[in-house]
Amino acid sequence: MPYPTDLILGIDTSCDETSVAVLKNGTELLSNIISSQIKIHQPHGGVVPELASRSHLENLPRVVDEALHKAGITLSDLTAIAVTNRPGLIGCLLVGLSYAKSLAYSLNIPFTLVNHLKAHLFSGFIGHDERYPFLGLVVSGGHTALYYVKSFDDILLLGQTVDDAAGEAYDKVAKLLSLGYPGGPIIDKRACQGNSDSISFTRARVKKGEYFWSFSGLKTAVAKIVKENQKSDALQISDLCAAFQKEVVGSLLDKIERAFKEYPVKALVISGGVAANSLLRTESQKISARFQVPCYIPSLLLCTDNGGMIAYVGAKQIARGDFAELNANAQASVANLSSDF
Ligand code: KG4
Ligand code: ZN
Repeated sequence: MPYPTDLILGIDTSCDETSVAVLKNGTELLSNIISSQIKIHQPHGGVVPELASRSHLENLPRVVDEALHKAGITLSDLTAIAVTNRPGLIGCLLVGLSYAKSLAYSLNIPFTLVNHLKAHLFSGFIGHDERYPFLGLVVSGGHTALYYVKSFDDILLLGQTVDDAAGEAYDKVAKLLSLGYPGGPIIDKRACQGNSDSISFTRARVKKGEYFWSFSGLKTAVAKIVKENQKSDALQISDLCAAFQKEVVGSLLDKIERAFKEYPVKALVISGGVAANSLLRTESQKISARFQVPCYIPSLLLCTDNGGMIAYVGAKQIARGDFAELNANAQASVANLSSDF
């Protein structure tokens, strides 16, 4: 008999969003509250880990209350708790994990540990039937990786970035252009007003394998262009943003196209913060249509870090009795999702 997953509380405090969700019967999100810390980190041009964990500590009880209230339930209605314990900023992860442990202990219900990347990977299926095997691109501020997913537990890493993540490249380039933080949405907006053909970048070739990326050279190329044009008005920031975006999205789609040819799949899932990107969303729909494979991209709310995706993966683990002990720990990094389970 599977363990009941009637009402699961999902908690994510892995980086700079305090998020809590309530998931009903493993599929229906009754609430998914995201409290962003952007304002706290903005003056520093990036996430300050110490400020992030302190803010989680202050906000988490309030966000839990809000998630329960929106779902129309109380603490005693919960059947289990799912919490991110890896990977992420260690101080931040520990806030969520400690909270989940105390709550589970006091309510006498089980809790389960969720891998944040696995949660992103499956987030495209929330509200849909899962289709296996599928190709999953997780593209965020901390990760850029392509997976061939045969089942919930059989996940093959095809490749990943060897240096910066795609979101990190957006954030660094935005900083370089003094556009603000986080860079992704700002560059995305500016790119829509620019000419993407005005500048062309050389695509990085990575020796490690066909499915590996490198984005650090692109950031250096942008820096060089900015330096060379410092004294002239010729450089249009919007054009630079458009050309940069075209290159990032182009390199992501190149690997997807290659994988489509090599792996017969029933779906393409694009997830993580960068999946909010307008060009990536339209172009990945186009490429999957060309290969006649349905494309699942989460709503903007589910692209960013959120408790809903944690509860979704957590529900499957809870159903099969994958419960954590009170001495469970957090992990800042994981070697590889393929061997994590
Ligand atoms: O998944 P996420 O919320 O947090 C991590 O786990 O990293 O991703 C945040 C990243 C940031 O780097 C942000 O700049 C990027 O996602 N991002 C975008 C867009 N919206 C957010 N990148 C490109 N285009 C966007 N529209
Ligand atoms: Zn994330």
